[in-house]
Amino acid sequence: MRQDHLITAKQLSRDDIEAVLDRARAVADDPAAYADRHAGRVLALCFFEPSTRTRMSFDSAAKRLGMNTIDMGDVDSSSVSKGESLADTVRVIEGYADALVLRHPSEGAATLAAEHVETPVVNAGDGAGQHPSQTLLDLHTIRENHGLDDLTVGIMGDLKYGRTVHSLAAALTEFDANQHFISPESLRLPRSVRFDLHETGAQIREHTDLDGVLPDLDVLYVTRIQKERFPDENEYHRVAGEYRIDAETLEDAAEDLSVMHPLPRVDEIAPEIDGTDHARYFEQAHNGIPVRMALLDTLIENAEAPEGPEVDR
Ligand code: NCD
Repeated sequence: MRQDHLITAKQLSRDDIEAVLDRARAVADDPAAYADRHAGRVLALCFFEPSTRTRMSFDSAAKRLGMNTIDMGDVDSSSVSKGESLADTVRVIEGYADALVLRHPSEGAATLAAEHVETPVVNAGDGAGQHPSQTLLDLHTIRENHGLDDLTVGIMGDLKYGRTVHSLAAALTEFDANQHFISPESLRLPRSVRFDLHETGAQIREHTDLDGVLPDLDVLYVTRIQKERFPDENEYHRVAGEYRIDAETLEDAAEDLSVMHPLPRVDEIAPEIDGTDHARYFEQAHNGIPVRMALLDTLIENAEAPEGPEVDR
């Protein structure tokens, strides 16, 4: 990865992804070798939306690289509540930190932030847009269990508002994966995402039912219905609970099927799956540490490269 911002999975080539994942493997194998790597540097955590995993794993990853972290705190307690613009907020925070992790409810927020600062920006979720660091840890999990070649992946649930889905689909296209999208009609992939996938030669099929494709899948990536993004709560209640996985659902699955989920789950995966060999979601969440360590290390290295990185914004 030559760029020093990570805004969208669409900016990543197969080589970029493999380089970060190779580094994540190296980090996982020998964390002590990375412990002081970025001592004296500071990571700013700017979360304008709720987060547990992403915020805490970036915090932990930074500290395991020897960095300190500063946290904007809740939006209500920051100057944003006084009406400060996002551009001003990130310009100020840039002066306090060597890299910024940003989550924001508006699609395009990370792109805007990156236009205003020189320090690396990681998009940790922009509305229903993208969540590329999640994709890297998803791919790391898939790679460690199945490799990244000849994959057949089912992505199920809220494909309309799920930013993890939009990022993962773009990245899987780089690996020529067969992608099956399973959702109610009202939550199918947005037209713009389908367009981008077609443009890049993705192999995609859409379904309203899991049964027909399940036996072919190496990976089933389940997502939460993104309640907070529904303009109408009644519409949410119409689709919530429709796509739920339990032991009976998986009877026809391949023995080595990996069930993944970016978490938090609400009730999309029955707890009875947790103890089976299919369950990968907790391993997936834990992979956030080596992958985000590798990502921060790469972005800071690129930003400080003497030649200057080839920035593609
Ligand atoms: C996801 C997100 O915020 O998009 N969570 C995460 O980062 N692991 C998924 C979700 O909220 O459903």
